[in-house]
Amino acid sequence: MLPEYYEFYNPVKINAGEQALETMAYELGLMGAKNPIIITDKGIVAAGLLKIVLNSFADSEIKINAIFEETPPDSSLEVVNQIVSLFYKNSCDSIIAIGGGSVIDTAKGVNIVVSEGTNDIRLFMGADRLKTPQKPLIVVPTTAGTGSEVTLVAVISDVQNNVKLPFTSNLLLPRLAILDPRMTMSLPAKITAATGMDALTHAVEAYTCLQKNPLSDAHAWMAIKLISENLLATVKNGSNKQTRFALANASMMAGAAFSNSMVGAVHAIGHACGAVAHVPHGVAMSILLPYVMEFNFDKLEQLYAELLLPLVGAEKYAKTFSSQRARASIAYIRDLKAQLYEAAALPVTLSQAGIKKEQFEMISNKAIDDGAILPNPKEVTKQDILQILENAF
Ligand SMILES: [Fe+2]
Repeated sequence: MLPEYYEFYNPVKINAGEQALETMAYELGLMGAKNPIIITDKGIVAAGLLKIVLNSFADSEIKINAIFEETPPDSSLEVVNQIVSLFYKNSCDSIIAIGGGSVIDTAKGVNIVVSEGTNDIRLFMGADRLKTPQKPLIVVPTTAGTGSEVTLVAVISDVQNNVKLPFTSNLLLPRLAILDPRMTMSLPAKITAATGMDALTHAVEAYTCLQKNPLSDAHAWMAIKLISENLLATVKNGSNKQTRFALANASMMAGAAFSNSMVGAVHAIGHACGAVAHVPHGVAMSILLPYVMEFNFDKLEQLYAELLLPLVGAEKYAKTFSSQRARASIAYIRDLKAQLYEAAALPVTLSQAGIKKEQFEMISNKAIDDGAILPNPKEVTKQDILQILENAF
């Protein structure tokens, strides 16, 4: 059934495939930019990925004068301000972000400051506070999970005040995302598994939450199909370019889906597990997904039954009685988790991820206040969250 009204917006150009990086110089020219700053982190440099990007500009008019290699795992106000100084000092006119979620969020934060001409990014915190078209931002994701290359969100940490500052605006969407299989080849198995499960959770929550719509469904559906066909194979053999590329595409599509339809209780509880017990985001998603699916089951049985098709393929779907398909979808995800534990030691339970029962109270208090709880298809109480945590322990 279609919603009575919906909105879907994804203006990000996607250049995807072998040698996609080599299109960047031309694309910058189309944007009227010739002096980009590169924002990345030490891991990317050590893996030789920055070099591949720099080589892609050989023989072009683009000269890279400013490179920031020190982005930490959690983007912060201080780092944003440091990069802004570098941007101005080198008279940059555009931004290239090479990395995972933190690098991309940091780049979006820098873009807010230099595009709005502000010295206090906090003035633009919240929803739809940006007023000025942003400078050209090109994103080269090096993980296949966050989908940040196509999302309208950035989260920057205010370390001094111990809060995370959220920014959402259509203006935050990058101009171009480059999915080049060379960029995710060196990702370790465990991070491949965790980020892949984050992408799967984006897609499952986008397909089932209150703001779902036909366009987010289409993106989520294909993301789920590509992840179930390629995640385990990639974790077992990270050197397969085709399966790596499939996951990069899946992550991007899941990002476009949830950027428009939002996520749900898995993310709300997962954010809280991250804040209270420092559980990595993808690990929390993987642990919690089937337990939240169980919780939402009475509202979502029909949709879970539909998802069995992209999860297991036509043959197995046809062989499963229609009354058992929804349960089979959850069973498939549990089995996938077990196999990812075997292959890459990805934690299956909250206790394996280092969470203590004494932390449940604080996690549930944070989760109930998380914005992602609102579009969850079933109302969630604090007691429900405590029960989900207990089940997932
Ligand atoms: Fe996520």
